[in-house]
Amino acid sequence: MVIFSEPKGLRDYLLAQRKEGKRIGFVPTMGALHNGHLSLVGKAKSSCDIAVVSIFVNPTQFNDSSDLEKYPRHVEADCDLLKSVDCDVVFLPKVEHIYPEGTKDTRTYDYGLLTSVMEAESRQGHFDGVITVVRKFLQMVAPDAAFFGQKDFQQLAIIRHMVRSEGIPTTIVSCEIIREKDGLAMSSRNERLSDEGRRISKLLSKCLFKVDELRLTKSIEEVQKWIEDQFDSEPLAKLEYFCVSDAQTLEPCSSWRDAFEMVCCIAVFVGEVRLIDNQIIKA
Ligand code: PAF
Repeated sequence: MVIFSEPKGLRDYLLAQRKEGKRIGFVPTMGALHNGHLSLVGKAKSSCDIAVVSIFVNPTQFNDSSDLEKYPRHVEADCDLLKSVDCDVVFLPKVEHIYPEGTKDTRTYDYGLLTSVMEAESRQGHFDGVITVVRKFLQMVAPDAAFFGQKDFQQLAIIRHMVRSEGIPTTIVSCEIIREKDGLAMSSRNERLSDEGRRISKLLSKCLFKVDELRLTKSIEEVQKWIEDQFDSEPLAKLEYFCVSDAQTLEPCSSWRDAFEMVCCIAVFVGEVRLIDNQIIKA
């Protein structure tokens, strides 16, 4: 496994690999790796010749400076894990490599509903930072395919849109959510949960898994109310949103027949830790 922190070193190395006809698969991460990330590396390894993983806690996508500060960081353990799954290349840039002109003036992006609903409403400027950094990485790595977890459903929809609208020749691959045994979607943030928080956090997936059954007898509004009630009885948890949207456009649905493929998305504060999850349902 080779490790680069300078974009130039990475670019030269990958250029040589590409000249040999190797296909490059890319997994962007912010570190604190778990099995969800490792499964993305597995997907990259199985469909490409070289798996490149970046570890970079991107400051421009945090709208809350204490969230940025508290974001877990353990690069050495991450590199050990990546080695154990035969990752080929790790890219560990510093902030000045990615933002040579500073992080203050991030460009803003307007992709209509995609960049205005759900996470965009709750986390002002978050997607501007995500789009900015993913564009830079796609330029530096120039991968044939890039792998993203479906847990960040809106992020995935936005990145697909960005790649399509800018004509970036990378295939965006969506990978299923990897869950703990009790259903909690794996996330680097989970390690910040207290024991009590960890117990409560399984309520997110429990609610999502129940939707398919509830929708046979309840309207979307009634299911929303049912989910609010589940969280109301947990003082440590604060439901930020639960919404049902068209999975392609993210347009909010008001009936279960509004779209062929819908996505139920949920965001909850458990103590200070903000968790998100989602589940696709078909009409
Ligand atoms: O999903 C993430 O971990 C981040 O948003 C990403 C895609 C690595 C960009 O910083």
